[in-house]
Amino acid sequence: MRNLLSIADLTNDEIDEIFDLADGADKLRTDKSAADQIMATLFYEPSTRTRLSFESSMHRLGGAVISCSDMKASSAVKGESLADTARVVSSYADVMVVRHYWDGAVQAMAEHANVPVVNAGDGSREHPTQTLCDLYTLKKEKGELRGLTVVVCGDLKNGRTVHSLVFALARFGAHVVTLAANGMELPHYVLERLEREYGYSLAPVASDDLSGVVTETDALYLTPKQPHQLALFTQVDAAMQSRLNTMVSGLRYDAFYMTRKQKERMKEGTTGGTYPTIGPSFLKEHRFKDTVVMHPLPRVDELSPEVDKDRRGIYFKQAANGVPVRMALLKFLLNRRETKRIAGKRTASFYESPERLGPKCTNPNCVTVTEPASTRRRFELLSGGPGGALLLGCIYCNHRFKVQFVGHVKSKRYCAYDIALADTIRGWLKKDELAIFDSIKEAEELGYEPYKSGPQRTVMDEQEIQAAVREMSRQILRECQDPDRLLILGIRTKGSYLAQRIAGELAAQRRQKPEAGEIELYGAGDEMRRIFPDDEDAPALNLKDREIILVDDVIYTGRTVKSALSILFRSGRPQSVRLAVLIDRGHREVPVKPDYVGKHIPSSEKERVRVKLREAEHDEKDKVVIYSMISPAETQAETIA
Ligand code: NCD
Repeated sequence: MRNLLSIADLTNDEIDEIFDLADGADKLRTDKSAADQIMATLFYEPSTRTRLSFESSMHRLGGAVISCSDMKASSAVKGESLADTARVVSSYADVMVVRHYWDGAVQAMAEHANVPVVNAGDGSREHPTQTLCDLYTLKKEKGELRGLTVVVCGDLKNGRTVHSLVFALARFGAHVVTLAANGMELPHYVLERLEREYGYSLAPVASDDLSGVVTETDALYLTPKQPHQLALFTQVDAAMQSRLNTMVSGLRYDAFYMTRKQKERMKEGTTGGTYPTIGPSFLKEHRFKDTVVMHPLPRVDELSPEVDKDRRGIYFKQAANGVPVRMALLKFLLNRRETKRIAGKRTASFYESPERLGPKCTNPNCVTVTEPASTRRRFELLSGGPGGALLLGCIYCNHRFKVQFVGHVKSKRYCAYDIALADTIRGWLKKDELAIFDSIKEAEELGYEPYKSGPQRTVMDEQEIQAAVREMSRQILRECQDPDRLLILGIRTKGSYLAQRIAGELAAQRRQKPEAGEIELYGAGDEMRRIFPDDEDAPALNLKDREIILVDDVIYTGRTVKSALSILFRSGRPQSVRLAVLIDRGHREVPVKPDYVGKHIPSSEKERVRVKLREAEHDEKDKVVIYSMISPAETQAETIA
């Protein structure tokens, strides 16, 4: 069965094939290409364009349409599962078009349907058919997609149309500049995928360059060419700044893709703040004379009606193209009903827990959380996360999070995941003997026992740690230009504890507590937040022109820091970022250098260093220990012998 759940389900050639079919939409109409076919539309969320253009397309192809006028009037309100609805509707229709407010809900339905399923928007995840309309319109306007520079603006966090669009633009070799409203930046999992699968890198762009149209937002430039490794520098100095300015002043902006604030997907009270808008001043700027303005619609007030009359406003064309493009897509899918989903060049390994308990997606709006009964929890297993972390990517919503504990199914042993185990784990996965747990409790509930590590040796005791924190704080204060601009940001979790201690030291030294916060690399909620929220309604942390001290317990490969920097740079432009770590192991894969170090402990193959802080260890004293890893494979041999 061919479904369209993500834009990744179509190859570039297939997208071109659909565009060719769309060009010949008149012929599809006269041929009655879908005579005798029935399309069902199930919209659990409001829609005007997507639904009506799909229905119009099916009628134009000579087919018929069945629908629920309002899903609140369907059996869903009686508690029917997505799985059951999908099975039932499959026997009434030849193709199903579904929109739902949960991330991954359409994928869950597709798994239970017997007919092709099209995603017409799922939660804040993807909206692939809108992207087809966007690309088709843009291509008609500009001739080709390769080499274009597209600025995506507004709510990039919750706007699903933007997620599908940036993946597609990356695949067709376009450049993307992101211009997010504060706190609504592209989610980390989207950027990670752009980096991992398409080799894109990102760099901040001076917002002054776009100041004609936007205020109070910093732009990010995503490019396939990787000329700027900015996210790897710990200092945004003046020289770099001017390099960036020249870089962007040479940019030609081909399109602005504006989006509306997705209020319905936000927590109450988080919808404030400035929002970029496009209006008359944009139209007057000479360098935007050939820049087209796009919008998936509906618009609210981010796009002024003055643009409607201008030749550059092409959003009504986008909406009109919904019919030929969706006619083409329906024809394409109905032709291929019997073909399998494309294999693509996916090389990832997949993981499904062999045990009753196993990892759960951390995204609260994921269908595996909201309706587990209609899903089978499966994940992509991705190595090479920050600090060598092993990551799980949810198949339904694509959110990514870290593997905490791993177990061996046969010997019933578990331990915390460590990069030294990478090869062993791969072996277990191949033999279906890998268990992954979110917590020790889960492992123990299934009767797993811990692997033992080798003997421990203390390399830093409580006093030494205390002295190191004090000394680092002194240096920080000495070297900062304006202590009032200091922002101490810890990398969760141990970096946050250290950040709190440094903030405490600084408070003692100058009788005023600096602002402190934490960064969460793989969480579901906000990536950045305050550690001491004196005021619950305090606005999001403002990074602009701040002197940031990024804090972590150990630096080894540098990848964790790199990820944290990329979050920082896309959330605002600080004046400088310095790095403070308790332990430097000096084995760098990326060129980041800590500015403040508690102690250097050169890395060695077998020895691991662990920072134990009393906040994390409950009651224990602070210490840094070094221990050697006994490979679980060795212990296993022992157990068998
Ligand atoms: C979009 C959607 O529903 O995601 N609309 C559309 O399909 N054209 C965008 C939006 O609602 O803002």
